[in-house]
Amino acid sequence: MCRARLLFHFLALSLLPFARPDEHTHIYEDNDEVVLWMSTVGPYHNRQETYSYYSLPFCMGTKDVINHYHETFSEALQGIELKFSGLEIEFKADIAKMDYCQIKLTEESEKAFIYAVKNQYWYKMYMDDLPIWGVVGEPEENNGVVSYYIWTHKKFDIGYNGKQIVDVNLTSENKVKLVQDAAISFSYEVNWKKSNVKFEDRFDKYLDPNFFQHRIHWFSIFNSFMMVIFLVGLVSMILMRTLRKDYARYSRDEEMDDMERDLGDEYGWKQVHGDVFRPASHAMLFSALIGAGYQVTVVVLSVIIFAILGEPYTERGSMLSIAIFVYAATSPINGYAGGGLYARMGGRIWIKQMILSAFMLPLIVCGTAFFINFIAMYYHASRAIPFGSMETVTCICIFVILPLTLVGTILGRNLAGTPDAPCRVNAVPRPIPEKKWFMEPLVIIMLGGILPFGSIFIEMYFIFTSFWAYKIYYVYGFMLLVFVILMIVTVCVTIVCTYFLLNAEDYRWQWTSFLSAASTAGYVYIYSFYYFFFKTKMYGLFQTAFYFGYMALFSLALGIMCGTVGYVGTNAFVRKIYSTVKID
Ligand SMILES: *[C@@H]1O[C@H](CO)[C@@H](O)[C@H](O)[C@H]1NC(C)=O
Repeated sequence: MCRARLLFHFLALSLLPFARPDEHTHIYEDNDEVVLWMSTVGPYHNRQETYSYYSLPFCMGTKDVINHYHETFSEALQGIELKFSGLEIEFKADIAKMDYCQIKLTEESEKAFIYAVKNQYWYKMYMDDLPIWGVVGEPEENNGVVSYYIWTHKKFDIGYNGKQIVDVNLTSENKVKLVQDAAISFSYEVNWKKSNVKFEDRFDKYLDPNFFQHRIHWFSIFNSFMMVIFLVGLVSMILMRTLRKDYARYSRDEEMDDMERDLGDEYGWKQVHGDVFRPASHAMLFSALIGAGYQVTVVVLSVIIFAILGEPYTERGSMLSIAIFVYAATSPINGYAGGGLYARMGGRIWIKQMILSAFMLPLIVCGTAFFINFIAMYYHASRAIPFGSMETVTCICIFVILPLTLVGTILGRNLAGTPDAPCRVNAVPRPIPEKKWFMEPLVIIMLGGILPFGSIFIEMYFIFTSFWAYKIYYVYGFMLLVFVILMIVTVCVTIVCTYFLLNAEDYRWQWTSFLSAASTAGYVYIYSFYYFFFKTKMYGLFQTAFYFGYMALFSLALGIMCGTVGYVGTNAFVRKIYSTVKID
């Protein structure tokens, strides 16, 4: 059932996140074996659409035994499969140009290659953890006739510093035209050169400081920071006004200045004290969302901090491993927050709530991935659904996430499950009065996301570009700053929104606060349309589905996170202001 090996990897990962069985020392003696791993191949315009290198009819070298293999769980999940190239490479031993294999182009393999060349396929290889990219081939036009060529010679220039590999350059040479029944030989050549690059700096050449200009980041952060100051000021003013109990009652009519008029009727919110702590509608879904939101927030924060401390781009797939590990490990938080909230709202069907909480996100993520894989299979027969990975994910859900969520839920219901609202809830719900259109929850929800989105959209551009194009994201310090700013802005905006809503004597603030914060993600999703049409060159049903599917997942996670943070902040605010209300 469960693929024991993958599960084992997962467990090993949880015990020793940084240990790797091989290539981990990066120290080579003269003539030690150096392994060239063939990884993936895929269109240049979508970095995330990748297939196994040997899904194209390339051939392998002659060497068939190597001393070590490796595969980590997250690589398997991402569809990165490392296959040994069969090329003989030894440390500091030059190899002159040499044929290593030959293929005969059948009709089918010719078609596959032409498809790849037409779509600007690139392939990726790894040597000593350094990624190497190469082009499959290129089209050439001659008198209006397009013919397709494939590169057959790989020239490796490998730089070494002492006993370590610090630089690899690949040059593709020797174009051969793709015609049916041609015999194509592939050759390679290795030149070792002394290099002065330090081992610690060997990844620097993959980073692009011109693209990730610090100036832009600082500018964006400065902008958002101004917004934060303004919003925090606004919220403290609201708090001061509401907590300054009776003063305004006496001086109300005479001294109501413009600002007060704008902020609405002072006493509107007090009228709904008997309803404001009425449980949210759809309490089960609501508490499941809040539980999941706590979990996602912790995962995002941990991953960013991990990325600042380590340099994740030097390790294949380590970010995803950490994210999955932290996600599984923080399931009790989900259970505790969701279960506790559900119990406080008087929910009784807690097992159903817990299952919803535990499986909602994994199911949506897997469902989307499955759907996209399905389209992929339809378009390219080569891509198979990674069933092994699916099994592993299922196993993790059932044997790790579910029990941990159960523990969290039980703790949450017992420790944090007693209703503790500062005001009693009236037996009969108060009718919600008519109000102006811009006080309707739907309008508030839609407006709520604008400012939080404004504080992150510049960073979003960099994040999108590093995800979809060939840029490596490395300015995680900025990401952390932006994350913190986003949280503050979200909380402030949600509090202001809720204050307006309550002043309009509408007590349905739980969903409104959650959704008005979550609508940030709606704007991010809209922004992703702009990004798709103006910044990427993806096309076709498959790439479109791929892009929008994964962007929807990203936005959903962001929405749940912002929504939860907004709700939690607002909840504190609402409790604070109503704790001062004296009920006559
Ligand atoms: C690889 O290419 C870069 C840029 O062209 C060059 O500076 C470097 O010396 C090359 N490395 C090797 C080992 O040839």
